Amino acid sequence: MKRLLSGIKPTGELTLGNYIGAISQFVKMQSNYETFVFVADLHALTIYNDPHLLKERIRNIIAMYLACGLDPKYTTLFIQSENVYHNNLAWVLECNSYMGELSRMTQFKDKSKDKNETAISCGLFTYPALMAADILIYDADVVPVGIDQKQHVELARNLATRFNNKYGDTFKIPEPIIPQEGAKIYDLMNPNKKMSKSDETGKGCIMLLEDPKSAKKKIMSAVTDSDLKVYYDKENKPGVSNLLVIYSSLKGISIEEATEKFKDSNYGEFKKCVAFVVEEFLENLQKKYREVLDSGMVDKILDESNEKVRKLAEEKVRQVYEKIGVGR
Ligand code: AMP
Ligand code: TRP
Repeated sequence: MKRLLSGIKPTGELTLGNYIGAISQFVKMQSNYETFVFVADLHALTIYNDPHLLKERIRNIIAMYLACGLDPKYTTLFIQSENVYHNNLAWVLECNSYMGELSRMTQFKDKSKDKNETAISCGLFTYPALMAADILIYDADVVPVGIDQKQHVELARNLATRFNNKYGDTFKIPEPIIPQEGAKIYDLMNPNKKMSKSDETGKGCIMLLEDPKSAKKKIMSAVTDSDLKVYYDKENKPGVSNLLVIYSSLKGISIEEATEKFKDSNYGEFKKCVAFVVEEFLENLQKKYREVLDSGMVDKILDESNEKVRKLAEEKVRQVYEKIGVGR
C-alpha cells in the first residue's frame, strides 16, 4: 500500500478552508493509503508563538483531526517535535541544499520581503529542508498539500534525487497531490483571496471552533454580485461560486448537483441553505471535538503512534548516517 503523509502548522485557529482543502481530503484518502498525518509544530517556530497557546493548539489540532474523521485504524497521527529524528535528517538535508534554491522558495520570498534582516529567522530560510525531512524520513509516496506548498514538495524531490545520486538509493521520490480547484475556499468578504487563519478577526473567515451562530451570520453577509442567479462561474461570480463549493463539500455532493438544486433560488434562499449547512456542520463537529478531548483518547493515540513513527524514522536516519559516514 502506498504511503500518504501531510501536516498542518499550529500557527492559528483551524478554518473551514483547512477542513475542506486539507483535513476532509485526508479523511477521504485515508483508507486507500497507509496514512500519516501530523502537527508540524517545529514549523510554527519561524515566528514567535505564546508557548502556552502553542501547546494548547497542538493538542487541539490532534483532537480536531480525530473529530473530523481521521481514524487511527487507517491513520497514524503524531506531533512532529515528539519524533526527534526529523531534526537529525533535516540537518543532513540542509547540508545538501543550496542557498540559491532555498532563496528561490516563494514562501520565503513572500514572508521575508519588506523585513529587515534582523527580523528574518534563519528557520524561515531552512524551513523547506525540515519539511523535506518530514516527508523523506517516512518514504512517503504522496503528499497532499495546498498549491502554496507544492514548491516545497518539489524541493523535497530534488533533495531526495540529489542524495540518491551522491550516496546511492536511499529515499523514495514523493509526489505532491494538489486538491482540485473545487477544494479551495475563499474569503467571504473578498472572494478573490484565500480564506486564511491569519485573518482571525475578519468576517471573511470561518473558524472550526467558532460559535455556529456567528458562522451562520458570516455566510448570510458573504459578498456576492448583482446578477441574482445562482450558478458556478469562478471568474465572474467568485462569491456565489465559493458558497456553492462550501455547500457541495459539506453535503458531499458535486458542484453540478448543488447548482441544479439552487437554479431557481434567489440569493437570500441560497444563502440561508448554505448558512444552515455550515451551522449544522460546526455544531456536530464541535460536539465530536469536545467528546474527543474529554475522552482522554488523544494521549493514548499519540503514545501508540509515537512508537511506530520513531522506529521508522530511526531506521531511516541510521541508513542515512551509514551512507554519509558519520558516527562509528
Ligand atoms: P495553512 O493553514 O495555510 O497552514 O494550510 C494548511 C493546509 O490547509 C494546507 O494543505 C492548505 O492548502 C489548506 N488550506 C488552508 N486554507 C485553505 C483554503 N482557504 N482553502 C483550501 N485549503 C486551504
Ligand atoms: N509547510 C506546511 C504548511 O505550511 C506544513 C508541513 C510541514 C507539511 N511539513 C510537512 C505538509 C510535510 C506536508 C508534508 O502547510
